[in-house]
Amino acid sequence: MKAVCWMGKGSIEVHEVPDPQVVNPHDCVIKVTRTAICGSDLHLYDGYIPTMESGDILGHEFMGIVEEVGSEVKKLKRGDRVVVPFTIACGNCAFCKRELWSLCDNTNPNAHVCEAMYGYTGSALFGYSHIYGGYAGGQAQYVRVPFADVGPIKIESSVTDEQVLFLSDIYPTGYQGAVNCNIEEGDTVAVWGCGPVGLFAIASAYMLGAGKVIAIDRFPERLKLAREYCGATTIDYTEDDVTVVEALRDLTGGVGPDGCIDAVGMEAHSHTAVGLYDKVKQTLMMETDRPFVLRQAIQSIRKGGSLSVPGVYGGVLDKVNFGAAFGKGIKMGMGQTNMHKYLAPLLKTIEEGQIDPSFLISHRIGIEQVPAMYKTWRDKQDAVTKIVIDPWQDAIVA
Ligand SMILES: NC(=O)c1ccc[n+]([C@@H]2O[C@H](COP(=O)([O-])OP(=O)(O)OC[C@H]3O[C@@H](n4cnc5c(N)ncnc54)[C@H](O)[C@@H]3O)[C@@H](O)[C@H]2O)c1
Ligand SMILES: [Zn+2]
Ligand SMILES: [Zn+2]
Repeated sequence: MKAVCWMGKGSIEVHEVPDPQVVNPHDCVIKVTRTAICGSDLHLYDGYIPTMESGDILGHEFMGIVEEVGSEVKKLKRGDRVVVPFTIACGNCAFCKRELWSLCDNTNPNAHVCEAMYGYTGSALFGYSHIYGGYAGGQAQYVRVPFADVGPIKIESSVTDEQVLFLSDIYPTGYQGAVNCNIEEGDTVAVWGCGPVGLFAIASAYMLGAGKVIAIDRFPERLKLAREYCGATTIDYTEDDVTVVEALRDLTGGVGPDGCIDAVGMEAHSHTAVGLYDKVKQTLMMETDRPFVLRQAIQSIRKGGSLSVPGVYGGVLDKVNFGAAFGKGIKMGMGQTNMHKYLAPLLKTIEEGQIDPSFLISHRIGIEQVPAMYKTWRDKQDAVTKIVIDPWQDAIVA
């Protein structure tokens, strides 16, 4: 089959590789019908996540048709149409039982590496380095899915692939981002980043009762989606006279937002001196992440408010204003998304027409176009807002 492979930092290639097989009786193999590139894939592309190996198959947002099932699989059969969550969970450990699915104790065969870094490991992830299990990803024509009775959700209605594909990650991730803001009716929520995760966080914040959402980014096409599709008030943080912390204060009667969502993470951009400081330190490997947005969110939030961090951080952060977080008594929620908890309720919102997640797709491509598109995606060129791949076409000329 054809698969998108990580060959080194900044190097992606499509290769012909062996088809995946059922190796455990609880596995299934899926024929991928649609897959996507995520903001998280950029951290791999840019070399910020250790333990990638040349030839690793990328991709953790995918859906398809069940091709083969292992002998112990009860809930799926060949021909079923499914979306697969990007976190791999066993369904049986103490963490899965508490619905902390992304913290599953049993799915990461390389747990010891995570334990050395973090104390304990989270769940394994598809296509996301060897620290997270080394499982092959879904930017491919087929993919092996372990714990097939636990993760995949069957799609039995007539919704299109493009409408449900984002249940694999970014819609639940934006939704959990909003849940972690502990929203009360009428609250004001600020969202940094109008990429896919930020856009779904905005939409979800309104679903959960927010009265006003303020969204921050610099790309006009992303700010436009935030305004026109999601209903946010927007701030372009690169405009000359804009200081985000002050703008948020002005927009909230001096109080600060009730909830702040960092949907940017470790590769935050900044045109300020502080941003340059982070960039230099990260380049010199003196700092693992660029926590520019995290600092701003902590500074902006109202006293007693909630800080939610769906944006990914990987290491040790420099100059984080933790004293401000403490001084204002804020609550914090973060982490990989507990995907399995949200699949069924969010599928319902799509089937009932509350949201059509395909609104943010800007590019539809074939598999041979993927390597070039990683660069477009990283550099946010060509007004890109989300790329969807049909792995059975070489190229799509739209
Ligand atoms: N927690 C999870 O389970 C999970 C799942 C998926 C993605 N993520 C993470 O969420 C983050 C966003 O993902 P995405 O797919 O939307 O990525 P993306 O790269 O498309 O979007 C990030 C957005 O942040 C904006 N941005 C950069 N610097 C900013 C700043 N200083 N202020 C405001 N906005 C700024 C960029 O312009 C961009 O639009 C990434 O870190 C990704 O790894 C986490
Ligand atoms: Zn993702
Ligand atoms: Zn588990």
